[in-house]
Amino acid sequence: ALRVRVGPSVLAGDLSNLAFETHRVIRAGADYVHLDMFDGNWIKGAFTFGPMVVKAIRHHEPLAYLDVHLCVLHPEQYLEEMKNAGASRVTLHFEALSDSRAAAERAHGLGLEVGLALAPETFLDESLLSVAELFDAVLVMTVPPGFGGQAFMPEMLPKIRRLREAFPTKALEVDGGVTPTTAAMAAAAGANEAVAGSSVFHSHSLRRAIRELRHSLEQ
Ligand code: DX5
Ligand code: ZN
Repeated sequence: ALRVRVGPSVLAGDLSNLAFETHRVIRAGADYVHLDMFDGNWIKGAFTFGPMVVKAIRHHEPLAYLDVHLCVLHPEQYLEEMKNAGASRVTLHFEALSDSRAAAERAHGLGLEVGLALAPETFLDESLLSVAELFDAVLVMTVPPGFGGQAFMPEMLPKIRRLREAFPTKALEVDGGVTPTTAAMAAAAGANEAVAGSSVFHSHSLRRAIRELRHSLEQ
């Protein structure tokens, strides 16, 4: 069976206190931590942090699985820096890459795991499936990338279903508007990893929120 994993997105936490936010979700049972890097360009005006901050987080959490979601222009330019910063996996947007195959190969050459992120408007055709084949994971955005707190787009479920048919054992993640209810819908379509910002950080108990998401994925 595919391993079910929950990765809280610290974008919904206190961005001035990332080591603390990372630590408390790990302590509350998170399987990995999702770090949204925004460069102010790919998503106009949205800026979070870059490799130096990832490195600072890594210093506090030597064992955590850190997945960096690069919502940036030319994400391939950050591969080496992300490796040096201690990222476990980098997730790169298909829409922002000029050569997806080369990027996957370079990431692997550096010893990074690499995911392919698909924005909602990106249509999944045969040629995209053959690109996705080269990646360790596919992240299906279930909201337009840019900020937390948006509503899950159920129209993305067929995309997840199609990916799962093509790749029975690949990690398939959903990101955006993920709650226990929408995680169950995504899992029924084939997702095994869930990224969640608001539904984890705005809950009274991080531990309970993470456990509920895991139960939704496990159904
Ligand atoms: C959106 C980011 C998400 C965001 C999700 O661009 O990729 O990771 O943090 O936030 P929620 O879970 O609140 O939709
Ligand atoms: Zn994200």
